[in-house]
Amino acid sequence: MSTNPKARAWVQVRAQALRDNYVRVRHQVAPGTGLLPMVKANAYGLGVEAVVRALEPLEPWGFGVAGVSEGVRLRELGVEGRIVVCSPAPYEDVAAAVEHRLQLSISSLRALQQLGATARSAGTTAEYHIDIDTGIGRSGFDWRQASEWLSHSVAGVEDACCVGFYTHLHSADENETTVREQWVRFSELAAQIVSLRGSEGPALAVHVLNSAGVFRAPEMARSVVRPGIFLYGGGVGPGQPRPTPVVSVHARVALVRSVPVGTTLGYGTTYTSQRDERWATLSIGYGDGLPRALSNRGSAILHGTTVPIIGRISMDVTVVDITDVDGACEGDIATLVGSEGTAERTLDDVAAEAGTISYEVLTGLTGRLPRVWMDESV
Ligand SMILES: Cc1ncc(COP(=O)(O)O)c(C=O)c1O
Repeated sequence: MSTNPKARAWVQVRAQALRDNYVRVRHQVAPGTGLLPMVKANAYGLGVEAVVRALEPLEPWGFGVAGVSEGVRLRELGVEGRIVVCSPAPYEDVAAAVEHRLQLSISSLRALQQLGATARSAGTTAEYHIDIDTGIGRSGFDWRQASEWLSHSVAGVEDACCVGFYTHLHSADENETTVREQWVRFSELAAQIVSLRGSEGPALAVHVLNSAGVFRAPEMARSVVRPGIFLYGGGVGPGQPRPTPVVSVHARVALVRSVPVGTTLGYGTTYTSQRDERWATLSIGYGDGLPRALSNRGSAILHGTTVPIIGRISMDVTVVDITDVDGACEGDIATLVGSEGTAERTLDDVAAEAGTISYEVLTGLTGRLPRVWMDESV
């Protein structure tokens, strides 16, 4: 474990593990399949600049974001290649998308008209992907109403040109049945799009699979896949391959106290010592993104031993019971996510204990925690 003496708590990120997970995704799909790593939400909280720098040598097909401002940020970081915005963009953001050559996702003919008009006034041609809703419902053209949108969206409008189409799976981490159902809906439309388009012009990019999809149904990869969570060390469902851990979360022991039986702890005094105990106050709280739901149920690792979180997590500190840990003292480093020796608390363990998902744990880690990048390859 690296130490960061200046920080009270921090997130450690392993660049090589991120790349290993990327390569595992690549090996899962047919050679030549493009990868569009999703780097939205500050690369799932890891830090978009460092993630992009770590992945660029692997020559991804492009980078995927959710918002136009995230795409603009990538351009500011010097990303020259393809950037696909994979959520519907509010009209106010379309001009910036055009200016920065972002490929927007189009979910309505109205948005397509707006994109064409914006590109025309900027004196350029915009590129876009057709987002097809095959059951997720939150965005995309409705698969049941293809007669209303399919030919128009493929033909494009003056100054806006279709370069790809895709759908998004809603439950690939849970079951195969819905994946197949979405696949059938998508494939029927894909065949129509390909035949409408004919053999003229460059082939359209076609993409379906997120991380869980890549492992559950790699044969559905088409020309591009859009992995996210697996790259960052989050699992993709029970029984599926586990990613190499990328992120660990650490905090200093700020205070060690011996307390007599009957001592109350924390807001609401939800914990009272049952014996003479030793408590360690860790310099991390929900203000750093440690889920408050872990109060009285999560744990940490200290000196290679798993110790329970007791009482309510506060904004800045969390208390663990270290009665059974020999030699723990102030200044020691506790691990909230990660491993020490044989003790391990995976991102998914922590998420499950907090009643949430790894995505929320990662993106919830606040800016208060420095991201300390390790690059074991150099
Ligand atoms: C459209 C789209 N594609 C791909 C992904 C990546 O998904 P995952 O992180 O599950 O791999 C996301 C993330 O939610 C998404 O919204």
